[in-house]
Amino acid sequence: MIANKPTEIEVDFQREILKLKKNLNAVILAHYYQESEIQDLADFVGDSLELARRAKTTDADVIVFAGVHFMAETAKILNPNKLVLLPDLEAGCSLAESCPGNLFKQFREKHPEHLAITYINCTAEVKALSDIICTSSNAEKIINQIPIYQPILFSPDRNLGKYLAKKTGRDMLLWDGACIVHETFSERKIIDLKTEFPEAKLIAHPECEEALLKRADFIGSTSKLLKFTQEDSALSFIVATEAGIIHQMKKSSPHKNFIPAPPDNNCSCNECPFMKLNTLEKLYLCMKNGKPEITMNEELLKKALIPIERMLNMS
Ligand code: 13P
Ligand code: SF4
Repeated sequence: MIANKPTEIEVDFQREILKLKKNLNAVILAHYYQESEIQDLADFVGDSLELARRAKTTDADVIVFAGVHFMAETAKILNPNKLVLLPDLEAGCSLAESCPGNLFKQFREKHPEHLAITYINCTAEVKALSDIICTSSNAEKIINQIPIYQPILFSPDRNLGKYLAKKTGRDMLLWDGACIVHETFSERKIIDLKTEFPEAKLIAHPECEEALLKRADFIGSTSKLLKFTQEDSALSFIVATEAGIIHQMKKSSPHKNFIPAPPDNNCSCNECPFMKLNTLEKLYLCMKNGKPEITMNEELLKKALIPIERMLNMS
């Protein structure tokens, strides 16, 4: 007789995570693009700027970052003495990858008179080489504080850079990077959707391409898009950003209809493959094992803090 395979011990991840959180005096910070079950378990869910602010003010001993690597790095830079855990160290970002530190250094050296304003979606090495960091929710405000005669380098997102150049009237030099998720939306399919749902408003993240942004009824960071759906009188929205945000939109406006903007083919490309590397199981394991943790040398921590502090003071 063939013996039955021993059944795996079922772990109630949610219950265990909450227990570990208490024992470790940990805080769980999650980005809007995380799986909904992770968002529901987190102490705070927000956009890049809000998460950086929370990381700066938390009195927890351990920060568990349910997001991508550059976000957890930012939390570590703001809290060099705390343990910062990321459920999967491979959770990267196509924008951060598009801008290696050595090439960014050369870019700066070629334009010594320019001020480098850099999107937070970059490595700590690139942050340390930048003058001011920004996110999609404070970039316009920060650029508007820079004297008009001061030339600017904006890195690494060319779409956000083009959008900001238009909004602020500044002629900025742009790094040629892009987000694989936000560049995937199909303009043609969105036009079809608008014909099918003429009352639906198109809302888009500024990392999307210019042609799509031109058609948008509202453009903003993830938090601003969420706020817009809560406050606007429309009952239907086509959402051109990573589909994870729709969880919060539905939670706060259950009577409204949210249509994820379709990608160019039949893949799930409107989901960020890096963000989705984090799972409830990996969240539990990283808290149980105290790793993977974010580590950086002291010099890098100090250098990268300067442009982040400037951002927080200017926004
Ligand atoms: P925000 O959270 O600033 O809207 O940025 C979106 C994003 O792509 C994060 O990786
Ligand atoms: Fe990076 Fe785009 Fe994923 Fe945001 S959605 S983490 S910008 S790859």
